[in-house]
Amino acid sequence: MMSEPLVLGIETSCDETGVGIVRGHTLLADAVASSVDEHARFGGVIPEVASRAHLEAMVPTVQRALDDAGVALSDIDAIAVTAGPGLAGALLVGVAAAKAYALAAGKPLYGVNHLAAHISVDTLENGPITDPVLGLLVSGGHSSLLQVDDLATSVRPLGATIDDAAGEAYDKVARLLGLPFPGGPPIDAAARDGDPAAIAFPRGLTGARDMERHRYDFSFSGLKTAVARWIEARERAGQPVPVADVAASFQEAVCDVLTRKAVEAARTHGIDTMVLGGGVAANTRLRAMAETRCADAGLRLRFPRPKLCTDNGAMVAALGSHLATAEVAPSALDIPANSSLPVDVVSLADRVS
Ligand code: KG4
Ligand code: ZN
Repeated sequence: MMSEPLVLGIETSCDETGVGIVRGHTLLADAVASSVDEHARFGGVIPEVASRAHLEAMVPTVQRALDDAGVALSDIDAIAVTAGPGLAGALLVGVAAAKAYALAAGKPLYGVNHLAAHISVDTLENGPITDPVLGLLVSGGHSSLLQVDDLATSVRPLGATIDDAAGEAYDKVARLLGLPFPGGPPIDAAARDGDPAAIAFPRGLTGARDMERHRYDFSFSGLKTAVARWIEARERAGQPVPVADVAASFQEAVCDVLTRKAVEAARTHGIDTMVLGGGVAANTRLRAMAETRCADAGLRLRFPRPKLCTDNGAMVAALGSHLATAEVAPSALDIPANSSLPVDVVSLADRVS
């Protein structure tokens, strides 16, 4: 296959309709239409609302990406699409659209894994990932430690959350503090004025016994409950809730556990580069703490700019480009959308058995 394929990537796993275009590792377009405002008043994404929004946004967003990149559909070498994991109905819209574009243009289709795509997007800013990396993938739906020996063929889970995802914890705690949805950005901002040591919130699964069974796993639901109890106690006592201090202390607990376990996993597995990905990787404290701890441990750290951390089509295009360059066989045109696609399936097979 060509060395610098022109790839169009489509992402619809949650509430962002993302269409990105890359040539090799060069980002040409990153068009995103979000339905987040339609979900905000519910405090979470409503799947059916997201699916309808994807349907409406799909064709105009593809057109916007083609215009931004200054290319025509006929110029595109391959179409990549998130096949899973994610919301079933939302995924279906993207997968159906990608099949239609691939068929219409007569180009190969790559049905790819959303989590591997979150790691791949870093290649658009920091160049190819050639050696094994430790992926710390933290988003609204996932918190995983991944051993990525080969981005095209070998992504292995070392650990994951056993309850809430990190982003989910941000969203729930924001709600407790009366901050808007999604909660990551407002907590990130509020925490800047707070004291991260003000309240000693629990660090899930870091005790000696938990570390035996769950060394590289995460748990954030106990932390969320601890924050809720702490706020309730203040309110019962008729005292004001110090939003900045709660935000900073909560954030410190999340980032501490994520970076501590990620650094240890990299060291234990002899991996010398860490890559951050997913919406929570946009967090300023996580990025700063990862920088310090990776430097202390002699690890190289890579992460993309915040806008590429949250869901977008460029990440899907980046993975598609990597697969095409690595000469991985494209997917069959009858691939399903798989809402629970396992993390180690980087792309779907060339035929459905
Ligand atoms: O990757 P993403 O866009 O969607 C999923 O695949 O889930 O991640 C969305 C999540 C939300 O939970 C949001 O609150 C969180 O990422 N997030 C952040 C920040 N920006 C987005 N969390 C912490 N700090 C941020 N700056
Ligand atoms: Zn995501």
